[in-house]
Amino acid sequence: MRKRVYSGIRATGRLHLGNYLGAVKGMLALQDEYDCIFSVVDLHTITVPYDPKTLQQSVREIILDYLAAGLDPKKCLLEIQSRVPQHMELAYYLSTIYPVSRLEDLPTYKEKKAQYPKYVNMGLLYYPVLMAADVLLYKGELVPVGIDQEPHLEVMREIARKFNGVYGETFPEPTRFKTTGEYVPSLSGVGKMSKSVEGSYITLTDDLETIRKRLAAAPTDSGTEGGSVPETGNVANLFKLMKLFVDDSTYKKFAQDYQDKKIRYSDMKDVLADAIFQELTPLQEKRKEFSQNPKLVDEILESSNQECHERAQEVVNEVREKMGFSS
Ligand code: TYM
Repeated sequence: MRKRVYSGIRATGRLHLGNYLGAVKGMLALQDEYDCIFSVVDLHTITVPYDPKTLQQSVREIILDYLAAGLDPKKCLLEIQSRVPQHMELAYYLSTIYPVSRLEDLPTYKEKKAQYPKYVNMGLLYYPVLMAADVLLYKGELVPVGIDQEPHLEVMREIARKFNGVYGETFPEPTRFKTTGEYVPSLSGVGKMSKSVEGSYITLTDDLETIRKRLAAAPTDSGTEGGSVPETGNVANLFKLMKLFVDDSTYKKFAQDYQDKKIRYSDMKDVLADAIFQELTPLQEKRKEFSQNPKLVDEILESSNQECHERAQEVVNEVREKMGFSS
């Protein structure tokens, strides 16, 4: 049997380069060979403040980004999490075997608590349990996500192990599928590229001028430090992005310029902007085609979600039976 793959992205706006390189590239690498389901996890989206009026539009944007990036509905299923309510049912069952204290200790929970001190809700604490249910609902084995999701993967494995121990062998222990872009740094110099930090990201639909503007605002140094390229800090982040988008010889040229204290960051940013835009151009063209054909997108979603629904129910039935309910 082909390995089962599951991954999802929240509907918080258009995808940025972090999502693309850390998650979508992994999805693309796996869809040819494995049994894949890729989701827009809208139930996870509502754990932080959001606007119900625009939620559906945001879900649609991610679906269009997925299709534009090359996720192929002939090869994988595209799911909208809330249309498969078995996610919530399984999450509840799984929550009964997992300690609250472990959830309170997770870095993502602590970060969100600090970010939205007036919005510390049960859903936020429950987030990793629902995420475990997402993958286990399809007995997923491989999960293409960025490195920031590793603590959630650990929770998933703990839950699978515990469930198997208590109720009998049911779930595989999922592992993360890594990409070279598993950690894309922020353009602002601090932390990772993130939608919630303005000035930190480039989206997949940005035009060349916007990409240039965003890169121009990224902090650098005087350019007269010399020596090897630093491993942390603003300049390191720019070089990390260079490595992800330009060829080896171009990278080496700028690394050499840095060493020789003659680097011109504006030149480097221009080269980087062009390289990013070149990679994004075919995506943007494809996106336009799909957005002009909403009926086709609806049909894709309809048949995908139908199939997900059926598969999910089988696993929920198995779980219910093992836990002492009738299926
Ligand atoms: P979200 O929407 O926060 O992130 C979506 C994906 O993008 C990756 N990512 C990054 N990768 C590299 N560098 C970055 N700067 C960067 N920023 C974001 C994330 O690692 C993630 O892969 N909890 C998940 C959503 C989820 C999920 C699931 C994923 C819910 N259920 C089941 C897989 C399986 C998340 O972080 O979404």
